[in-house]
Amino acid sequence: MRHELSTIVNIIKINDFNVRLVLQNSDIASKATPGQFVNVRCCDSNELILRRPISILKTHGEFYDIIYKIVGEGTKRLSKFSIGEKLDVMGPLGKGFTKESTDKKIAFIGGGIGLFPLVNAVLEFKNCESDFFVGFKSKKEMMLIDEIKKTGANVYISTDDGSVDYHGFVTDLFIKNIKNYDKVYICGPLLMEQSCVDILRKYNINGQVSLEQRMGCGIGACLVCACETVHGIKHVCKDGPVFNIKDVFLKEQLDE
Ligand SMILES: Cc1cc2nc3c(=O)[nH]c(=O)nc-3n(C[C@H](O)[C@H](O)[C@H](O)COP(=O)(O)OP(=O)(O)OC[C@H]3O[C@@H](n4cnc5c(N)ncnc54)[C@H](O)[C@@H]3O)c2cc1C
Ligand code: FES
Repeated sequence: MRHELSTIVNIIKINDFNVRLVLQNSDIASKATPGQFVNVRCCDSNELILRRPISILKTHGEFYDIIYKIVGEGTKRLSKFSIGEKLDVMGPLGKGFTKESTDKKIAFIGGGIGLFPLVNAVLEFKNCESDFFVGFKSKKEMMLIDEIKKTGANVYISTDDGSVDYHGFVTDLFIKNIKNYDKVYICGPLLMEQSCVDILRKYNINGQVSLEQRMGCGIGACLVCACETVHGIKHVCKDGPVFNIKDVFLKEQLDE
């Protein structure tokens, strides 16, 4: 398994919660496909041995970008790194989003940090009519909109508090604008994903969903990310994180 150093070439504070890193590693940048992730060692010392999974936002030449939200000890430690330092990163990992050449009308539904893996997909899946639905808690958390608009996608924004555009859930905004899509790509909190999948099943639309699962090794060697599918127990890190909506049950996985 690739286990490499990525040099931090830029650090951009997007808002109070999210930080974008531009990283240099030509191997990861050249191999990454939409929806894949990297597993990042968040500190140099022997503490925090477990890596943290972060989606690949986009690739450009020998560079790739990630955005992380500071939520706990790992991401807090990550925020201590400076430009020029090297991060110990494994990747690209997992199976990402796929598109058939016959898919012409597609949609993306992202909630919060679930937006990140979808950005690489909308950038890469060209020659399609794309609708991009994204939900934020409020204007303060809004990000990446101009970058997505530049791809030519029609962008629909919802906020929980009504501070920007549609006031309410992104799933309701999607229902209001639903079309006869060839495929819909989903990533967000579990409840959002469950309701998206219910909608797609009701309208008989194909879809792929990226699961936000807690992880350990990130390479299929432990059982931390086990998830139940119609084909038996799968590892989200290796068999996913992206699954066909027909294959997953979408519930709190193996926590009961
Ligand atoms: C495939 C994949 C891709 C991801 N991509 C991104 C990304 O691009 N940007 C980003 O900011 N985050 C992403 N995440 C989530 C990220 O891995 C976690 O936020 C991070 O591991 C938290 O580490 P921490 O030590 O800071 O917080 P911890 O102290 O480990 O956790 C803080 C809080 O976050 C919750 N949490 C931690 N990991 C997860 C998880 N995987 N799913 C749901 N809740 C979790 C914990 O239950 C706890 O409430 C991704 C997760 C997966 C599985
Ligand atoms: S995280 Fe270890 S098997 Fe998936």
